[in-house]
Amino acid sequence: MVRLVRVDAASPDQAAIDEAARVLRAGGLVAFPTETVYGLGANALDVAAVRRVFSAKGRPAFNPLIVHAPDRNAAAALAAEWTQTAERLAQVFWPGPLTLVVRKVETIPDEVTAGLPTVGLRVPRHPVAQALLRSAGFPIAAPSANPFTGVSPTTGEHVERGLGGRVDLVLDAGPSPVGIESAVLDVSGEVPVLLRHGTIPNEELSAVAGDLAVFEGGIEGVPARSPGMLHRHYAPSARVRLFSPEQSQEVRRAATQARERGARIGALLMRDLGVPVDVPIAMPHDASAYAQRLYAALHELDRAGCDLILIEQVPDAPGWRAVRDRLQRASAVP
Ligand code: TXA
Ligand code: MG
Repeated sequence: MVRLVRVDAASPDQAAIDEAARVLRAGGLVAFPTETVYGLGANALDVAAVRRVFSAKGRPAFNPLIVHAPDRNAAAALAAEWTQTAERLAQVFWPGPLTLVVRKVETIPDEVTAGLPTVGLRVPRHPVAQALLRSAGFPIAAPSANPFTGVSPTTGEHVERGLGGRVDLVLDAGPSPVGIESAVLDVSGEVPVLLRHGTIPNEELSAVAGDLAVFEGGIEGVPARSPGMLHRHYAPSARVRLFSPEQSQEVRRAATQARERGARIGALLMRDLGVPVDVPIAMPHDASAYAQRLYAALHELDRAGCDLILIEQVPDAPGWRAVRDRLQRASAVP
């Protein structure tokens, strides 16, 4: 049985935080909330602990982990080269949902970065993550605390259900406020490359970093520039079908037939499209609120035993980029 410790999201109990830091110091794994999603943390300087993160998630060794630090100075100390661009981005967006890929210092083990000469660094804003990093006194390597390719957790219960006994302690502070993973921006080369969309709009990043290239790769089975850009990712166990409102008639027909065959159908909808659904979830019309709700909704439909999840496509607008990206990946055919 995993130990789940509830803490207040705004002012966590110091004794609980110190206990979690002790578990990490002893080489254990602690799942903790960040403002984006829950992370599965290990001491980034402890190779054995880092290996346990990969095996707990079933994550292939070629996919590097993000390293978390409490502030800009602590993060910059992990970079072999801290450029002006990195500094400016850190000043504007940290603490917050941005990961910067930079050249790493020698002390970060190759296991963390999957042998890459670079490391993804992030200073999270969540008070519990902040308190844990400060109590630990060492950088914490933490991928999202879900089994490989599954839906990221946004509550302690999601972690418990997904990873169960493979984690020593879960700090549960309730729902993560942002709800989807950080933007990953590689600033190790000449031109910054956005490897993963986050909730910070590209325009805001480029206002600080200059023109960005957006990496659109990610073919399943081929080691991509950012391995987390795998085509099918963030996916529930049910089949997911993403549809546009123009396709609703076709989807209505398909759903009716699937139900006649006994399938249980869940849906994430922004309005009533007359599709027959067993477990409908009404989604917010605002992009941030939608992002905050998305993974919890997918976890709910998985738990409700849905075989098919229908998702109404969201608007094709800049504020919706990260959500569209995650919906695309969740619905990619394996
Ligand atoms: O919001 C987040 O970033 C959460 C919280 C826990 O901080 N973490 C997270 O970690 O989403 P993970 O491991 O699920 O995703 C990290 C992504 C992966 O796509 C990984 O391939 C990429 O960042 N990444 C990490 N280090 C990298 C590097 N050195 N070069 C390129 N991509 C890197
Ligand atoms: Mg992940």
